[in-house]
Amino acid sequence: MDSMIIPDLEILPEQLWVSNLYHDWADKTETHLARLYGAHRAFAVSTGMSCLDIILRMVKPGETVLAGDDLYGGTNRLLTYLSSHVGVDVRHVDTTRVEELEPHLGPGNK
Ligand SMILES: Cc1ncc(COP(=O)(O)O)c(C=O)c1O
Repeated sequence: MDSMIIPDLEILPEQLWVSNLYHDWADKTETHLARLYGAHRAFAVSTGMSCLDIILRMVKPGETVLAGDDLYGGTNRLLTYLSSHVGVDVRHVDTTRVEELEPHLGPGNK
């Protein structure tokens, strides 16, 4: 790993050790997850919302997201924000009923 110089920041040696240990763990976890799923890369993040944020940043204005109709509040607020501020077409459907989902499936829909 490259070293990083942060001016005016006092870091105790034991904090650096914990930080390096975490990065080593995250690197290994990501490498193994990518292998397990046959993916090019995997990312390990520490919260559910940061994971959703990363995934939803791949959606561009005008694209469509199919989401469930009974979502966690934070997920719902993030999708509502994307819909009203970014121009993402967010459609809520009952994902337990395939017949409700099928009409919304289309090329590029996520
Ligand atoms: C379904 C679901 N998505 C996302 C989250 C958010 O996870 P976090 O609090 O780790 O950001 C939660 C949290 O309870 C959840 O239940």
